[in-house]
Amino acid sequence: MMICPVCKGKMKKIEKKYICEGNHSYDLSKYGHVNLLLSNQKNSKIPGDSKEMVLSRKNYLEKGYYKGISDAVNRAVEKNLTEKKDVRILDIGCGEGYYTNRLKMMLENLGIKNEIVGIDISKEAIISAAKSYKDMEWVVASASALPIEDESLDFIICMFAKIIPEEKIRTLKKGGKLIVVSTGENHLLQLKEVVYEVVRKEFYSPVEDLNIFEHIETLNEKYLVKILEKESIENLFNMTPYRWRSPQKGVEKLFSLNDLEITVEVNIDIFEKK
Ligand SMILES: C[S@@+](CC[C@H](N)C(=O)[O-])C[C@H]1O[C@@H](n2cnc3c(N)ncnc32)[C@H](O)[C@@H]1O
Repeated sequence: MMICPVCKGKMKKIEKKYICEGNHSYDLSKYGHVNLLLSNQKNSKIPGDSKEMVLSRKNYLEKGYYKGISDAVNRAVEKNLTEKKDVRILDIGCGEGYYTNRLKMMLENLGIKNEIVGIDISKEAIISAAKSYKDMEWVVASASALPIEDESLDFIICMFAKIIPEEKIRTLKKGGKLIVVSTGENHLLQLKEVVYEVVRKEFYSPVEDLNIFEHIETLNEKYLVKILEKESIENLFNMTPYRWRSPQKGVEKLFSLNDLEITVEVNIDIFEKK
């Protein structure tokens, strides 16, 4: 299902390389990932999440506080499996691969053959994913130029990442499902109440931006969880965009806490390509 970012020819994995029909070749790294991001596709010098953000996210997610989100996404995929046959899945903006890997484990437990590709524009995120999780394709590439064949995917997962409809519609099969996960209006409310004097409840619905798809349903997943380590509170804060725009006083107050109960709330929107 992978195509060459230069000539769009089909690619094959041969030993430690991807080679396309037009004879362009791309080496696999020692960790097993491939970099297919062309220099003219970079939106900054070092695109995507930084090494620090990736590490914070990895350490936080591995504590299991967002396992409930992962389970809800896995249930949404399971519910939309039309046949128990091979499924091809792309996780766009997969980060360090925590959710991608848990999805793979769910499919393996159900005995469903699968091919899963995780794509992220951050080299550091993909290196981290490739080091931790094997038997998947980990690719550095941009969501706006996916190195993926037309109409080759059964599912696209897009969790807390950029919505670029055109490439999603091109690469999904007819009847394929796009699953978009975004934060709900009460997500991390208690964290925001510590950091900011005034807290606005807000959330983004992707339905309008994705109106080239048929919207099937919105699933809401909400639970309370108590974060028990200072380090995890810091990691959680540092993996969110709040790290860029918060008052110093509020951040110091947050980092002085020994534990923190938070609301986790996400909306899972399911779309279909007609
Ligand atoms: C908020 S993180 C979410 C990561 C992962 N999905 C998760 O939920 O843990 C957003 C991710 O999107 C990636 N990203 C940002 N712009 C991108 C683009 N144009 N193409 C692909 N990935 C992108 C970032 O590098 C980052 O890893």
